Order: sequence, then structure tokens, then C-alpha cells
Amino acid sequence: MAEQVYMDHSATTPVREEVVEAMMPYFSELFGNASSVHHFGQKAKMALEDSRETVATSLGAAPGEIIFTGGGTESDNLAIKGVLQAQKRKNSGGHIITSAIEHQAVLRPCQWYEKQGYDLTYLPVDGNGLVSPSDLESALRDETILVSIMLANNEVGVLQPLRELAGVVAKTGAVFHTDAVQAVGKIPIDVDELGIDLLSLAAHKFYGPKGVGALYRRSGVRIEPVQLGGHHENRLRGGTEDIASIVGLARALELAVGSMEEERKRLSAMRDRLEEGILERIGDVLVNASGAPRLPHLLNVSIEGIEGESMLLLMDSKGIAISTGSACTSGTLEPSHVLTAMGVPPEKAHGSLRFSLGLVNRENEIDYVLDCLCEVVTKLRKMSPTYPV
Ligand SMILES: Cc1ncc(COP(=O)(O)O)c(C=O)c1O
Repeated sequence: MAEQVYMDHSATTPVREEVVEAMMPYFSELFGNASSVHHFGQKAKMALEDSRETVATSLGAAPGEIIFTGGGTESDNLAIKGVLQAQKRKNSGGHIITSAIEHQAVLRPCQWYEKQGYDLTYLPVDGNGLVSPSDLESALRDETILVSIMLANNEVGVLQPLRELAGVVAKTGAVFHTDAVQAVGKIPIDVDELGIDLLSLAAHKFYGPKGVGALYRRSGVRIEPVQLGGHHENRLRGGTEDIASIVGLARALELAVGSMEEERKRLSAMRDRLEEGILERIGDVLVNASGAPRLPHLLNVSIEGIEGESMLLLMDSKGIAISTGSACTSGTLEPSHVLTAMGVPPEKAHGSLRFSLGLVNRENEIDYVLDCLCEVVTKLRKMSPTYPV
């Protein structure tokens, strides 16, 4: 039976062999600086622009609308700070709207602007993690500059009704950004169909290298650079481009899009079997966001009476890598802000686990994971002061 089971693809993914192969020449013979005029530079420049075109095509965008960055966090920061700096009014802030379940890479920059005097509205979500277009409509004001709502949530996988949300924003002068870091390469995305202005992605979530990402910026949407330097990336992100990583990102995206339909079917069937198995074999389990459209490969469950961390450690001792929905901050165990916003009570939120399947998973691993989880839950519940045996 499998000794090592990796079911944490929402945290990160292994780099595909084909991606490593595509990247290798750019560490050695094709090492040029894409800004150099000589032929070394021009070869690097060609790889950079080819990669831009590949990424643009996969999103239904134009190459000039793609800015390469140092990952998802940087793309989110560039979108948020870029828009707010570009529209900065003298001595006055403005209004930002986001959702209560965003990643810290969106929440923290928004909160930073709040400290600078901007008004920040967090849209609530329902029990399935969904933002309502009518809540968004009511929150919009004349002075709303930016709306940032994620496409797919990293903890529970809920997919927002982005087209409807963008439609509401389109009636105003506000810019609409979406953090699509968890969605790109997993579900079909067309920026025009979605009607969004800015979209963040990160290569390491779809079998590309870490530390490289991109921001789609609809042509005409004004942003200021955050990282100031040379004239790279259309003057929007200073710094010599990491060609090997960018080539890797583009190749990984091309492969992910190419195998998307097949992988979606395969992974959602496995995810559903895992979910059914857990519900059948373990009592008092809540499947989070089960009533909403979800990412095909992700399952988040709350198992009553025990801590997610204890389950995670025991599962790890059996070779199974999963994650929890709780974040340990300054020694106190805070329940996940996502589950809390969804109205999951703390005692349930503390016992949450996230399984995120991917390319490396095989059908037989589901049975192994189910057997181990049943054993771990039985053991921990016997010791639990809060779970009646
Ligand atoms: C939804 C979401 N946004 C942003 C990020 C940050 O991306 P990166 O790790 O590439 O900086 C992540 C990564 O976990 C994510 O899941």
C-alpha cells in the first residue's frame, strides 16, 4: 500500500517533468537578459514573449495584458496597490470592497489601505461560502475604487458567481480584481466571459515552479507599479525577468489547460468517493461548501470533537499529507476565518481538514486514506473531552 500520499495540492504542486525540461536550457545556454540587445538577450526576449502569448491565450487575453510577477501574493499586491495608487486622490481615501473569505494576500494589502484612511467593506458569505451579487450591489458607492473577490477559495474550494458579480461592478466606475490563484489550470477561465479587469495567478498551484506568477490587466485599466526599477514588464514591474521560471509557468499552464477536462473528471470522481466514504464511515461530519459549485479536486470536512492539527499529525505519521482549516497564530489556535465567515461554529471549525487531490493521486490511495482517517478519528475521539463516546 502507498506509503506516501500527497493530498495537499492546494498548498503547492510538484513541478511536472515536462516543465523542468522546458526550463533547463534557460539556466545554461539560454541565460541571456531579455533586455539585452545582443542575440543572447534576444533569445531570452523571444522566450519571454512566447510565454506571455501562451498565458494570454489560455485566459482569452491579449499578450500585452499579461504582467509576469514573483507569484500569487505579488500579483494580488500589484493589483490592489496598483489600482489604488493609480487612482489616489489628494488628501482623500476611497472605498474598497472585498470578501470575508479572501486569502491573506488580498486581505492584508486591503487592510493596509484601511489604515491609511480608506473605507473597507468585507462582503459576507452564506453557509456555502458564496458572496451574493445583491450584497455587492448594496455595498457599492460612488467612491468605490476597487472590488476584489476571489474566484475559488483556497480552503473550501467554493467558486464565486464571478460573472454576476463582475456584471454588478461593471455598472459603476470601480475596477474588479479576482484572485484566481486556486482556479487557474483547474477550471476553464476566459477573462472576457468573466468580465473582470484584473486576475492573479501563481505557477506553483498548477505544477509549475514557485516564486513566479502573473497578473492579467485588462487593456486600459490603470495601475501603478509597486516594484520600481527598470522598464521591464511594460514599466509595471521593475526587475530582470526570471526567464526560466516564466517559461516554466507558461509550459505548466499549457499542459494544465490541455489535460483539464480529463483531470477534472478523474479528480472529482475521486474526491466524491472520498467524501462519500467519510460520510459513510465517520459520524458527525460536516462537508463544507457542499451546497455550492466547488473546485473539482478539493474537499473540506469538519470532524466534530477533535482538533484538525491532531488528525493532521497522525495522518502524516501514516505518510498522508493533508492540511487543516485552522491557522496557529501567536500560540492560540484560531479557527479559520473562512469557516467562521461561513457560520461554521468554532467547535466544528477546529476539526476541519482539507484534502486537495492532483496529478499524483491514484484511486487506490482513496481507500488507504479512508482507512487511516477512520482509525485516526476513532482513536482521537476516544481521548476527546468534548466528544461523547
Ligand atoms: C487564493 C490564494 N491567493 C494567493 C496565494 C499566494 O500565492 P503565492 O504563494 O504564489 O504567493 C495563495 C497561495 O496559497 C492562494 O491560495
